[in-house]
Amino acid sequence: MKIAFFDAKPYDKPSFERFGAEKGITFKYFETKLNEDTVDLAKGFDGVCVFVNDTVNAAVIDRLQELGVRAVALRCAGFNNVDMKHAFGKVHVLRVPAYSPYAVAEHTIALLLTSIRRIHKAYIRSRDFNFSLTNLTGFDLHGKTVGVIGTGRIGRVFIDICRGFGMKVLAYDKFPAKDAGIEYVELDTIFQQSDIISLHCPLTDDTYHIIDEAALGKCKQGVVLLNTSRGALVDAEALLAGIKSRKVGAACLDVYEEESDLFFEDNSGHILEDDTLARLISMPNVIVTSHQAFLTEEALENIAETTVQNLVELMEGGQCPNELCYRGGTAEDCKSGKCF
Ligand code: NAI
Repeated sequence: MKIAFFDAKPYDKPSFERFGAEKGITFKYFETKLNEDTVDLAKGFDGVCVFVNDTVNAAVIDRLQELGVRAVALRCAGFNNVDMKHAFGKVHVLRVPAYSPYAVAEHTIALLLTSIRRIHKAYIRSRDFNFSLTNLTGFDLHGKTVGVIGTGRIGRVFIDICRGFGMKVLAYDKFPAKDAGIEYVELDTIFQQSDIISLHCPLTDDTYHIIDEAALGKCKQGVVLLNTSRGALVDAEALLAGIKSRKVGAACLDVYEEESDLFFEDNSGHILEDDTLARLISMPNVIVTSHQAFLTEEALENIAETTVQNLVELMEGGQCPNELCYRGGTAEDCKSGKCF
């Protein structure tokens, strides 16, 4: 079985090579992302393997079908970059529903601690032998209220970690988990009562710009916003305005709405065209990482193993439990992750 692997990075290859060799799958690695201009590279392959910033829109899906490519194997959990309605009946879409919720939850906490204890500032100072503590005052997490939006795999690990710090946890989920021991409240209560808000829901029509000007207006003065989920959950212009007005005390972003042409690449020699991102990065109380939360050894291993297993199951058995399909299902179907 031959798979065209798009947006390949050096850290992807070792685990995909190992698991691929075990199961007789050959990967051809393309550094370019999959989109309408590059889709013809998939000619002669059984499937394509893509990541979060590859484009699998209607035009790409139609061309893949014309080329006889049967499978789109997402090596990630989110699938907002795939036109699922259009893919239905044309190509199989597989994903890795979970590979390490710990990786993402722990990165979220790393960002939070870095930000509120000013570690990013202290690190630079001490490298310059500047051992002054002026303006490095942080605050205790113990006793603070954290509002968690989305209590799936990652959200729950994040909640466990927050409880370890002695924080009060409030949660909002469109489909609250029964008997999970989580205190669910309305979204407005999250905004009004949280010192820290962390986003762990998927990007959908419902959650697009869930953090916008109106939401920030309801928040506590000095709220800390964490987004390691998807960039478009946050209206970046509104966030920037909130930071300028001091309403937002700090923001930690691993994702950004317009990240697809920037993140994962070295743009250090270029003029950044995106003024909003440039302004956010220039703020002393904003930390941006480039969609790095998943990047642990354990997660990379799990991603490769599950992706290879998905492809084997599909090609050999004709079906795969991690296949996404669009049948216009009910909310409960969506919740089960089986039918979109
Ligand atoms: P999950 O599917 O286990 O949990 C998502 C939760 O969000 C579910 O409980 C669901 O009911 C809830 N939800 C759905 N619609 C909602 C809405 N309108 N409002 C509030 N909650 C809603 O997903 P998991 O594994 O916890 O991942 C969460 C998100 O994290 C993914 O969708 C993805 O966008 C992001 N992610 C980011 C990574 C990174 O490297 N930065 C890596 C992996 C995932």
